[in-house]
Amino acid sequence: MKFKMLFWCLFLLGISFGVHSQPDSLGFISIDCGLPPNSTYVDKITNLTYVSDAQFIDTGMNHNVSGVYITSGVSKHYYDVRSFPTGPRNCYTLRSLTAGSKYLIRTTFMYGDYDGLNKPPIFDLYIGVNFWRRVNISDASKLYIAEVITVVTNSYIQVCLLDKGQGTPFISSLDLRPLKPSLYPAVANASVSMSLHRRLNAGVDDSVLVRYPADPHDRMWEPFNNPGDWTQVNTTSSVQNPPNDMYEPPSAVMQTGSSNDPGYQIRFYWLIGAEYKSPSYFVVLYFAELLEPPPPNPNPDPKKQPKKGSDSTNNTKQFREFTISINGYDWYASSVVPQYLMTSEVYGYTQTTTYSQYNLMLAPTDNATLAPLLNAVEIFVVLSTADLPTDSGDCMFLFFLRSLYLAIAP
Ligand SMILES: *[C@@H]1O[C@H](CO)[C@@H](O)[C@H](O)[C@H]1NC(C)=O
Ligand SMILES: *[C@@H]1O[C@H](CO)[C@@H](O)[C@H](O)[C@H]1NC(C)=O
Ligand SMILES: *[C@@H]1O[C@H](CO)[C@@H](O)[C@H](O)[C@H]1NC(C)=O
Ligand SMILES: *[C@@H]1O[C@H](CO)[C@@H](O)[C@H](O)[C@H]1NC(C)=O
Ligand SMILES: *[C@@H]1O[C@H](CO)[C@@H](O)[C@H](O)[C@H]1NC(C)=O
Ligand SMILES: *[C@@H]1O[C@H](CO)[C@@H](O)[C@H](O)[C@H]1NC(C)=O
Ligand SMILES: *[C@@H]1O[C@H](CO)[C@@H](O)[C@H](O)[C@H]1NC(C)=O
Ligand SMILES: *[C@@H]1O[C@H](CO)[C@@H](O)[C@H](O)[C@H]1NC(C)=O
Repeated sequence: MKFKMLFWCLFLLGISFGVHSQPDSLGFISIDCGLPPNSTYVDKITNLTYVSDAQFIDTGMNHNVSGVYITSGVSKHYYDVRSFPTGPRNCYTLRSLTAGSKYLIRTTFMYGDYDGLNKPPIFDLYIGVNFWRRVNISDASKLYIAEVITVVTNSYIQVCLLDKGQGTPFISSLDLRPLKPSLYPAVANASVSMSLHRRLNAGVDDSVLVRYPADPHDRMWEPFNNPGDWTQVNTTSSVQNPPNDMYEPPSAVMQTGSSNDPGYQIRFYWLIGAEYKSPSYFVVLYFAELLEPPPPNPNPDPKKQPKKGSDSTNNTKQFREFTISINGYDWYASSVVPQYLMTSEVYGYTQTTTYSQYNLMLAPTDNATLAPLLNAVEIFVVLSTADLPTDSGDCMFLFFLRSLYLAIAP
């Protein structure tokens, strides 16, 4: 507890110094770490303005990645990094936030051999004093993304990189996006955060990344395909979300999905990684029917008109219904019948498993004639936030010491 208090005090001291910076008109903060001080530019894909990180941190060094890693598919914010060769803990401070509000915070990393050592590091991320996740950079050209949904307790938040003695921590970009309180209600208050494991958009080509402005919340939806097995289903009609939707998937994501041949299942799995201490998962599955329902009795033949009272439309040719199981148990109690061009979501925690992986299966029911259709998936790791000290008065002595040190330091 004493140790935790010390961290908390350092946290408070850390935010006592530095320059202020405002979120933009959307409430977004988009930071290109390693960009020269006072530089800004407009990102080509999103039209969002990225700013230098100099006003959010006063430690670390700027580097450009090696030119061989700058290719057309790599966004500009990956071209440079800030690295932290000194100090066990280096933190960015994001200010002018609304205490008690919910935010999405995203960090990205591309090593790109910026230091010429060809030694990708392993380090830890913290939100303030709370462990978020480990980052294991094993491929110099790979783009790594860490994202968390969290409620801030103050008007600022710190994102910290901790040196584990396994290489120098570095960072390429840092984004903050505000979320309405009604979104992701599992993150009810500051005691629970959710770290993104995967956010997948089924049924699009591998080059398609959906984010802002198609998603007003600027979530990044990665393409999800299993080409040998799955078929792409898509529509040009937009998909509506129900009123008061808690997840608000963008239509661009819902308009595509993955299915299979009739009678077959949709299966995928995820492995329990070493990035978290003991992960427990929260999963959101997104569904919408994309195939137009068959027209009722298109060419009525008077002689073959069904008798009054009998079923005049036979939709069995196009009936989609499926169940959802994880590691063999029924994860969702009922079956799912996706509604035409209307989003529905099935969400919840997973049971802890003794396996090293989770196997999710959408299986057609006996009376279904179409295979399951999956439009999108989000998988989160649930983080329980450690108790924060409520009284910052204990920090005054340390604050005094630091002031003294600053006064006498050469
Ligand atoms: C950045 O801008 C601020 C205020 O406009 C100025 O005081 C500072 O000298 C600038 N820094 C650099 C490195 O240009
Ligand atoms: C970005 O801005 C340019 C010029 O204002 C505009 O032509 C383009 O459509 C915008 N792109 C997006 C994704 O909003
Ligand atoms: C990175 O490259 C840009 C030019 O592309 C240059 O202006 C900048 O000074 C370089 N930064 C470092 C840290 O070398
Ligand atoms: C880091 O990732 C690499 C490649 O995936 C893996 O071989 C290695 O075991 C990981 N290290 C740790 C400490 O997780
Ligand atoms: C935070 O939300 C959880 C879940 O809704 C609830 O159990 C807990 O009491 C809340 N904590 C506070 C401090 O409001
Ligand atoms: C729609 O699906 C078809 C295959 O069924 C595919 O060829 C096409 O590229 C898809 N279109 C989009 C926009 O994803
Ligand atoms: C609907 O048509 C299918 C064949 O396409 C048939 O097997 C089924 O019995 C029919 N159902 C009804 C209620 O007519
Ligand atoms: C289809 O069959 C399942 C059982 O396999 C049943 O629960 C469901 O109600 C049936 N749906 C319809 C529309 O008949």
